[in-house]
Amino acid sequence: MFRQGRQLSIAASLFRYPAVAPSSLRHYSFEVFRDVSPLRKLRRDLLLSRRTVGLVPTMGALHEGHLSLIRQAAAENTDVFVSIFVNPTQFGVNEDLSSYPRTWDADVAKLEQVNAELTRENGGRITAILAPTSKTMYPTLPPSSEIDGDGSFVTITPLSRKLEGASRPVFFRGVATVCMKLFNIVGADRVYFGQKDVQQTVVIKRMVTDFHMDTEVKIGPTMREDDGLAMSSRNVYLGTRRRAIGLTLFKALKAAESAYHSGKLNRTDILDPSTSITKDVLAKQQALSPSERALFEVDYISLANPDTLEELEAVDPAKGAILSGALKMAPLEETNAGEDCGLGDGKVPVRLIDNLILKPL
Ligand code: PAF
Repeated sequence: MFRQGRQLSIAASLFRYPAVAPSSLRHYSFEVFRDVSPLRKLRRDLLLSRRTVGLVPTMGALHEGHLSLIRQAAAENTDVFVSIFVNPTQFGVNEDLSSYPRTWDADVAKLEQVNAELTRENGGRITAILAPTSKTMYPTLPPSSEIDGDGSFVTITPLSRKLEGASRPVFFRGVATVCMKLFNIVGADRVYFGQKDVQQTVVIKRMVTDFHMDTEVKIGPTMREDDGLAMSSRNVYLGTRRRAIGLTLFKALKAAESAYHSGKLNRTDILDPSTSITKDVLAKQQALSPSERALFEVDYISLANPDTLEELEAVDPAKGAILSGALKMAPLEETNAGEDCGLGDGKVPVRLIDNLILKPL
């Protein structure tokens, strides 16, 4: 069922973000909401029937990482709400908002497939998709991506300035703001996030604590391809050549993790093995011709306190640490006929992030 379909045309004319494809106007095993009040009515009915709601916020382009969060939410709640909204305020002015993959039909097909697997006897199912327009999410002002732009924003500092925030200054303001809105709209008992975006999980937990929000933040494990590459909606841009080299980040983090497990606690002892790997791979790529190589830049490899994200000189074995990194894959300089260069023909720079939790020893 599709409620509030009229909102489609209104919203499409208000902001430049594309509306949900017309093919969405059909019947699903869940309800699709474009607006807040009908969703709230459903939420109230569920509450009165003593049912529980788990919310999985997404920006669409769903992959196995999202689906595993949905399955987790279904195991822990009677009803799962999935939001699909490419949130403009978490993209900087020069970032990839317009090229972010929008794959409504494929997303809905995946959600239908998950719902077909789920049975009410064993747990919950997907009951609602919230696919709001920008006008619904940002009702009074067009959303700003400027650092000092006007708007009603949630800022969680200093966490938001660290790591990813250093090169993406509006990112966590946008994430916290849209999550505050989604949490207020849905009133979920539990909200689900993937460990892949570890800083996001730390920021959201802090927001829920500091604003006394009545929901439980649940973190699902990072889903990986067979070779270890963390699943991400942006991987579609990599293509074969950059994908193989992008795996360097995971290998570097694994080397640091092994150092920790072998008893090393000092920063340099833990991080040196990862730096050697990235330097070695980059040197080998630089020695190749432009049509063979995939160049990258390491933005950071971090060893940080799990709660504050402060960089650590030494890991307290009673507390553990978050080991995380970001690698910027440059566009391919030259491509070859017939080469799989990914969506965007290898021209789109791709930022890869990954992390491993160093558990207390
Ligand atoms: O992780 C994401 O996909 C987004 O940052 C989120 C949490 C859906 C907010 O837009």
